Amino acid sequence: MERIPEPELMAEDDQAQAYALADFEEAHRRMLEVFHDCFPSLPDTGHAVDLGCGPGDIACRFAARYPGWRVDGVDASPAMLGYGPVVMDRYPGVATRVTLVEGLLPHCPVPRERYDVVLSNSLLHHLADPQVLWIAVRRLVSSGAPVLIMDLVRPAADDDVDGLVEEYASGEPEVLRRDFANSLRAAYRVDEVASQLVEARLPWLAVAMVTDRHMIVSGVAP
Ligand SMILES: C[S@@+](CC[C@H](N)C(=O)[O-])C[C@H]1O[C@@H](n2cnc3c(N)ncnc32)[C@H](O)[C@@H]1O
Repeated sequence: MERIPEPELMAEDDQAQAYALADFEEAHRRMLEVFHDCFPSLPDTGHAVDLGCGPGDIACRFAARYPGWRVDGVDASPAMLGYGPVVMDRYPGVATRVTLVEGLLPHCPVPRERYDVVLSNSLLHHLADPQVLWIAVRRLVSSGAPVLIMDLVRPAADDDVDGLVEEYASGEPEVLRRDFANSLRAAYRVDEVASQLVEARLPWLAVAMVTDRHMIVSGVAP
């Protein structure tokens, strides 16, 4: 199936609201589990960045799981960031350690020059130029820092898109089902991401499938 791009920013309020209120428990919990499996011995304190953070669920989960860490989330959509307080309320004790900032990656100002962990979930498939993500990773990662990126994988055929939407979003509002289908069609394949990493000269990052619809890209910066 050919890739069908979707708009980069999730700028509409109904879209942002549906996204912020949706149940991403399984996928987001899985991302934190994968992070822990890949990087079991994290220092007690540090600064992480979440690229394309949306309303901040991954940033908050990370801060809740690692109470000595601070997390900066970066997103270019004010509508998505506007739901940050709603999401933060779900994770007691994280509000003082999670900061969400508005900015257009890869070159926007962020609170720190370098980070001890770089995270990103579901940003890559929004990007017409995937190098936006890889430039941001290269720019912001500290030497020795773990990186974990998770995203959808584009299915082989359009029928597979319908099947995944039925399986994982059957009870969700129509706006979210439509977004999920569009995101699957816009996603990159594992072989495409492998080529992107070669082009970005990031040989220390490796890509692998982790579920029937997700890939992870992980590694430790040299
Ligand atoms: C599908 S959402 C994922 C949100 C969040 N990471 C999560 O997992 O819940 C993708 C986000 O990337 C943001 N985005 C897309 N292109 C961006 C860019 N160039 N700079 C910053 N944010 C961007 C969109 O506004 C949107 O909020």
